[in-house]
Amino acid sequence: MSAENYHFAPSEAFARQAIAQASLYAEAKADRLGFWAKQARELYWHKPFTQTLDFSNAPFAKWFADGKLNISYNCLDRHVEAGNGDRTAIFFEGEPGDSKQLTYAELTREVKKAANALTALGIKAGDRVAIYMPMIPEAVIAMQAVARVGAVHSVIFGGFSAESLSSRIEDAEAKLVITADGGYRKGKASALKPAVDEALSAGKCASVKNVLVVRRTNQDVDWVEGRDVEWREAVGNASEEHEAQAFDAEHPLFILYTSGTTGKPKGILHTSGGYLTQAAYTHKNVFDLHAEKDIYWCTADVGWITGHSYVVYGPLANGASQVIYEGTPDIPDWGRWWSIIEKYKVSIFYTAPTAIRTFMKLGSEIPDKYNLKSIRVLGSVGEPINPEAWMWYRAHIGGGQAPIVDTWWQTETGAIMVSPLPGVTTLKPGSAQVPLPGVSAAVLDDEGHELGRGDPGLLVLTEPWPAMLRGIWGDPDRFKETYWSKFEGKYFAGDGAKWDEEGDLWLLGRVDDVMNVSGHRLSTAEIESALVSHPFVAEAAVVGAKDETTGQAIVAFVILRQNQIEAAGNDADVSKILREHVAKEIGPIAKPRTIIVVAELPKTRSGKIMRRLLRDVAEDRPIGDVTTLADTSVMDIISGKIAGGAND
Ligand code: WTA
Repeated sequence: MSAENYHFAPSEAFARQAIAQASLYAEAKADRLGFWAKQARELYWHKPFTQTLDFSNAPFAKWFADGKLNISYNCLDRHVEAGNGDRTAIFFEGEPGDSKQLTYAELTREVKKAANALTALGIKAGDRVAIYMPMIPEAVIAMQAVARVGAVHSVIFGGFSAESLSSRIEDAEAKLVITADGGYRKGKASALKPAVDEALSAGKCASVKNVLVVRRTNQDVDWVEGRDVEWREAVGNASEEHEAQAFDAEHPLFILYTSGTTGKPKGILHTSGGYLTQAAYTHKNVFDLHAEKDIYWCTADVGWITGHSYVVYGPLANGASQVIYEGTPDIPDWGRWWSIIEKYKVSIFYTAPTAIRTFMKLGSEIPDKYNLKSIRVLGSVGEPINPEAWMWYRAHIGGGQAPIVDTWWQTETGAIMVSPLPGVTTLKPGSAQVPLPGVSAAVLDDEGHELGRGDPGLLVLTEPWPAMLRGIWGDPDRFKETYWSKFEGKYFAGDGAKWDEEGDLWLLGRVDDVMNVSGHRLSTAEIESALVSHPFVAEAAVVGAKDETTGQAIVAFVILRQNQIEAAGNDADVSKILREHVAKEIGPIAKPRTIIVVAELPKTRSGKIMRRLLRDVAEDRPIGDVTTLADTSVMDIISGKIAGGAND
C-alpha cells in the first residue's frame, strides 16, 4: 500500500484529552458568525463588541467593529493578572549555546518598557515601524510594544537585502526602524545594521527619524548621531509602568510584505480583533494546546507570517510556553533541533516540509540519538507535505504516534484555514484535509463552477473570515484585482486543489507565477526584474522547477548582452555574478539555483513568455504543446542547449 492510502484514526487516549471536539464543526455550521463571535469572546475586550461581521463594503470586511481591545494586553498583562505571571513565556536558545528564559511577568515588564521607549521616540498610534531583527526575544518584545501603543509594524525578514528593506520602508513610510547589530546564524555573527545604514543612505527613506539598535553580537557598527538610539539605554532606562490603551477592533496591527505576480511586493494589511481571534483559536485547537503543560516550538522566523501568527500572537494570546531558537539547524551539527526538543521537552513542534525532507535525506540516525518522547503533536506548513516525508516525520520525530497537522494558509489569510484537528480527524498523509470549523472553501473550474470530488481546480474561500487581510497597503485596486476579481464575491487563493473521494482536500501548488522555495514565497517577476537590472542581461525568464528538497528551485533563463560581457572581460563568471546580483537586489533566498543562458525565449505572438515550456526544460520533461509560439523553433534551440550542458 502506498503512503497516500494510509489512514490514522486518533487514539482514544489522545481524543479523550483533546481540546478540539468534533462538535465544533456542527456548531460552526449552524451559526457561523455566532461561532466566531464566541471565539472572539475568549479575548479580553475593553469595550465588548455587538456587531460580528460587516461585509457591506465587500471585499473590505469589518469584524467586531464596535469593540475595542489592546493586542498586547491580551497577549501579556491578562495572563499576569490571572495569576500566571510565573509561567515561562519564552525559552530562548541562542545559536552559540547561550540561553535565557522570560516569564510572562518579565516579558510584560519588558514590553511595557519598550512601549514607553517608543512613545519617547515620538511613535504614536497609526505610525509605521519597520523591524529588521534576528530571532531573539527583543524581536517579540519589539512587535508586542509596537502593537501595544497602537502603531503598525512591518517586519522585514533578516535575509532580505538593503534594497528590499529600503523599498518596504518607503512603501509604508516607516518612522522608526528597530534592528540589531547582528545575530548568530550558520556558526557566525551575521550583521544586520549595515543593511539598515545602506537602506537609509543617499536620501532614501526620508520618513525614518530614528533607528533603535539592540546589541546582540557586539560587532562594530557605524553610528549616526541623532538618528541611532541604543535599545539598552532607551528601553533599559524606561519606566516599567504602562497602561495599555484600547483600540478599535479594526485598528491596523501590521503590514507584512509578500511576493505577488508582479515585481512589486504587496504590503498585506492585518488588523487587530479578528486577526487575534483566529490566531488564538487556531493555535489552541489545531495544535491541541494545553497552555499549563505544553512546551511549544515553531521554527519559523518572525519575518514571515508563520512567525507572526504562531510565534508572536497566537501562542502569547493563549499563554503558552514556547521555545525560540536563533540560528540554523546545522550548528554545531544536524542534531541541534532534536537536542533543543530534548532539552526543553518540547511537546508541540511546528515546521516546514522542506526541513523534514532535508533531515530525511541526512538519515534517521541523527534524530534517533535524541530523546524525543515529549513530542505529542507535530505540525507542517508552507507547502504540501509529501506522504513519504509525512511518514518519516511521524515515525522519527513523532515516536510513531503523534498526530501531524498539515496546515494550509497564507500571509493573506492571517491564520490557519484548512487542517485536520488532532484527536478528531482521521489523518491522511499528504492531504491538508478539511476547512476548519468556521471556514468555507470550494474548488472551482476556470469558469467558476464548483467541482466535486476527484476533479482538480482552483481553491477559493467562499465566506469572509476574521483574520482575513483587510487590503494591500496603499493599493485598494490591486487588492480587489488580485483576490476578488477572478470569481465574483469569492477569495481566490492562487492555489490549485482537489477534493478526494472521501472529501479531503489536496493542495496542488500555486497556479500563478508565485514560487515556493523552501516554504518561502518568491515571485518570478521580482527575480526577473532583479536580473534585468544587471547590465549583462537583456531579457530574463524565471520559473520554479520541482526540487526534491526545497519543493521548488529557481531556474533563470537569460539572454545576455554580449557587448557588455566583452567589456567586462570575456572570462566573467556570468552565473556567479548574476546570482550574487540577485542576492544583493532581493536577498540570498532569491538566488537562482541554475542560470541557463539562451539566445531566445519562447514567446507567444502577443509577446508573453511561455513559462510552462521553460518549466518543461527546467524539469527535464518532454516539451509540451508549442503551437502558440511565435517562433516554434525556439524550443528546439533551448532544449538543444540543455542537452549540450546547462550553464550551472
Ligand atoms: C503554500 C505560509 C500546501 C500555498 C503560511 C500558499 C501550502 C502559500 C501549505 C502561502 C500547505 C502553505 N499545503 N501548500 N499546508 N501551506 N502553502 O504566504 O501555495 O508564505 O498559497 O504563507 O504557501 O505562503 P505564505
